[in-house]
Amino acid sequence: MRVLVTGGAGFIGSNFIRYWLQNHPEDKIVNLDALTYAGHIESLKDVEENPSYAFTKGDITDPEVVSSAMEGVDIVVHYAAESHVDRSIVDPLQFVKTNVLGTAVLLNAALEKKVKRFHHISTDEVYGELGPNDPSFTENTSYSPRTPYSASKAGSDHLVRAYFETYGLPVTITNCANNYGPYHDPEKLIPRFITNLLQGQKVPLMGKGENIREWLHVEDHASAIDFVLQKGKIGQTYLIQGEEKTNLEITKMILKILGMDENMIEFVGHRLGHDFRYAINGEKLKELGWERKHNLEEDLPKVVEWYKQNEWWWKPLKEGRPNIDRSAQKSYG
Ligand SMILES: NC(=O)c1ccc[n+]([C@@H]2O[C@H](COP(=O)([O-])OP(=O)(O)OC[C@H]3O[C@@H](n4cnc5c(N)ncnc54)[C@H](O)[C@@H]3O)[C@@H](O)[C@H]2O)c1
Repeated sequence: MRVLVTGGAGFIGSNFIRYWLQNHPEDKIVNLDALTYAGHIESLKDVEENPSYAFTKGDITDPEVVSSAMEGVDIVVHYAAESHVDRSIVDPLQFVKTNVLGTAVLLNAALEKKVKRFHHISTDEVYGELGPNDPSFTENTSYSPRTPYSASKAGSDHLVRAYFETYGLPVTITNCANNYGPYHDPEKLIPRFITNLLQGQKVPLMGKGENIREWLHVEDHASAIDFVLQKGKIGQTYLIQGEEKTNLEITKMILKILGMDENMIEFVGHRLGHDFRYAINGEKLKELGWERKHNLEEDLPKVVEWYKQNEWWWKPLKEGRPNIDRSAQKSYG
C-alpha cells in the first residue's frame, strides 16, 4: 500500500512514520511537508535511507504539488497544520490558510485520485473548554472552539465531514489530547520545560498552573491511528483519550525527575482565550478494541532522558528563535 503522510517532519507525523515503517514494512510512505519553522527533517534521520520512505518538500495549499504527491496513493494521513496556539493569536490568517485551505486542497485531490481512505488528525480543542466538574468530551459534543488555532482545526474537521456527506469520500477523523514524546518542538510545554531546566533556566507556567490538559504518548497516538485505519467505520470520528493532569502537576513531575524544586517555576500571565480544561471520553475507541499502552509515570522519565541524550536535535531549535510575544495581539475590552 502507498501511504501519503502530510506534515511528516513535525512532531507527531515523524513519530507516526517511524511507527508505520516498523509495523508495516511492506508499505511505501511518502512524506509531504513544507518544512516550515516547525518541520524538522532531522527527526527522520534514522529512516531517510529506508527504500520504503520518500520525502517531498511541498505546500499542502498548492493544488499542483498535492495532486502530484497523491498519485497512486491508497491512504492519506493528514497531520500538516499550524499547531501552536500562541502563534495563532499573533498570526491567525496563516492558520486559516494552512489548516482550512490546505485541508480543502488535499480533500479535492483525494477525491480526484480516488484514494481509499482520507484520515484527518484533529484535536480535542475544537470542543472548547470544560469547567472542573463538566463531563468529558464525546464524539457528540458540539464544536465550540475559542482560539484561532482550534477554530481553524474545527473548520478543517467540518470540511472533511462535508466531503464524506457530499461526495462520499471515505474519511475518518480522530481528535486527541496533547501528545508527549521524543522529537517534540521545544516551543511546546513539556519539551520547553525539560530543555529550560536542562539549561538551568526557570520554566514559565501560566496562571497558577491550574489549567487541566490530557496527555497522550505519541506512540499511543500512532497505534490508535493504525487501529482506526483498520477497524474504524467510514465517516466516523473517534476521540483518543490520554491522562488528565493540571499543568502544575506535569511541571512538578518534570522537576522531580530532574531532582529540582519548585523555585525553578516562574508564574506568568495566561494567554488570551486560555481554555481551562480539556478532557476526553475515549469509550467509543475502547469499545472497538483499542487501548493505551503508555502512561506518564513510566514514560515521562524516558522522554526527559531522550532530551538529555539528544541535545543535537533540540538545541539549534531553541537558539535564535525569539519567544512568542503573547501580548502582541491585544484583546478588546
Ligand atoms: N501536538 C499535539 O499535542 C496535538 C494534539 C492534538 C492534535 N494535534 C494535531 O496533530 C497534527 C500534528 O501536530 P504536531 O504537533 O506534530 O505539529 P507540528 O507543528 O510539530 O508539525 C506540523 C508539520 O506540518 C508542516 N506544515 C505546516 N504547514 C504546512 C503546509 N502548508 N504544507 C505542508 N506542510 C506543512 C510543518 O512543516 C511541520 O512539519 C496537527 O494537525 C495538530 O493540529 C496535535
